[in-house]
Amino acid sequence: MALRRVVTVASGKGGVGKSTFAVNYALALSRVGPTVLVDLDTGTSSVRNTINAPVERDLYHLCRRGAPLDRGLTTLPPRLDPKGLFRNFAFVAAPQHAMEDFINFSEVRRDQLIAAINGLQATFAVVDLRAGLDAQVLDFLPHSNSGILVFTPHHPAATMAAAEIVKALLFRKLRLLFAARGPLAERAGIHRQLGTINALLDRVEDSYDEEIPNLDAFLLDLYHAFGDAEVVQALAANVASFCVHFVLNLFDGVHETFDGAVAPFVRSLQRHVSARLSLHNLGWIVTSPEVHRSNQERRPIVLHVPAEGSTEVDPIQRELDALARQAGLDVPSRQQPRPIKDFLLSIDPERALYDQLEVLNAMHRDKGAMRVRDNFAYIVRRAMHLLATLPPDQFGQRRLLTPGEILPSLLESLGGATPGSAAAAAAAPLP
Ligand SMILES: Nc1ncnc2c1ncn2[C@@H]1O[C@H](COP(=O)(O)OP(=O)(O)O)[C@@H](O)[C@H]1O
Ligand SMILES: [Mg+2]
Repeated sequence: MALRRVVTVASGKGGVGKSTFAVNYALALSRVGPTVLVDLDTGTSSVRNTINAPVERDLYHLCRRGAPLDRGLTTLPPRLDPKGLFRNFAFVAAPQHAMEDFINFSEVRRDQLIAAINGLQATFAVVDLRAGLDAQVLDFLPHSNSGILVFTPHHPAATMAAAEIVKALLFRKLRLLFAARGPLAERAGIHRQLGTINALLDRVEDSYDEEIPNLDAFLLDLYHAFGDAEVVQALAANVASFCVHFVLNLFDGVHETFDGAVAPFVRSLQRHVSARLSLHNLGWIVTSPEVHRSNQERRPIVLHVPAEGSTEVDPIQRELDALARQAGLDVPSRQQPRPIKDFLLSIDPERALYDQLEVLNAMHRDKGAMRVRDNFAYIVRRAMHLLATLPPDQFGQRRLLTPGEILPSLLESLGGATPGSAAAAAAAPLP
């Protein structure tokens, strides 16, 4: 069985519970299909520190021998998984000791790691990335969506940094597409437009230049200058099809989370990037001393299955077993394009905020306060829904791309991406 989806987990800053999320999410996901968690947070190696399983080989051994990652999978000992419910879960540990080549990956090391992750024989790979915004993080992120970003109402600077990740990813993609010697340059009559676009992109990216604050203002300027020229269409399509997926950790209530995390995040994206990105809140994890205790005891919270003979129905088990029965990884096709003018004029930032509040309220109504283990089942369910409804480059990705591969794949996507597709996806009903 070949790898079918890679889901990266990133956060703008450390301490938001990114690794806690990645570990428990991968465990929950493994109930749906074979899942490998790869610890690329190589500075802290927190995966091996929160799962009490003997690690025989880690990334260091595998990379040194150029061995496939499947040779270094650590599975759960019966002590952690007495019923064998999580036998489809395995992880690849980061090196135990800090080593320069695993802290600052060389290009060779980076490409080796990417190839190794792509070679995994599993349905899902979950990659726990380091916190931050540097190339060590961005190089592993998808070019067409954010992967899963984790932030919390208790760490506002991390929320802003998560928005910066989105900006960096989207600009990386636009820079490649619209480069003066890039794929569009070959098309007739576009050269002059590319010069203008790049000069304007510089100004949008510069947060201190307030005249063109974001891509929406930029698109409107371009539309006035060039009408619905191919480059304007391509740009609009790329902005509209960019999806942002996030999980809120340390949740203590709808309003605290909305005011403390969701609204600042959405506003920052609207102000500095675009109000047209499609935002998907995958769910939350409540603040719970059990989560922290489980980490310290090195037995992640999702492994706390009700004891044999208990009358309690395990919600994770029920929910994920139902998911596993649905085949559901079919790839949906893209929607038809909308006329560029309709697209450019249909913008309502307040509406987007309201929609996010509604999502939180709906999740809260649906599940009430929720026990923490239910949170992970819920997030997996929403993630599976996205896999089934969004084109594969909009959530997770089929494989990680090295920087050298991004351009050809963008070219491929040029024909397909349309302004209508993301809007239609955003309007899809909640699972
Ligand atoms: N939902 C939660 N409730 C309580 N404590 C949590 C929760 N999520 C994470 N923690 C604790 O917060 C700290 C940081 O979590 P960690 O996953 O290591 O963050 P990161 O990977 O973002 O640095 C850890 O001590 C962890 O046990
Ligand atoms: Mg971590």
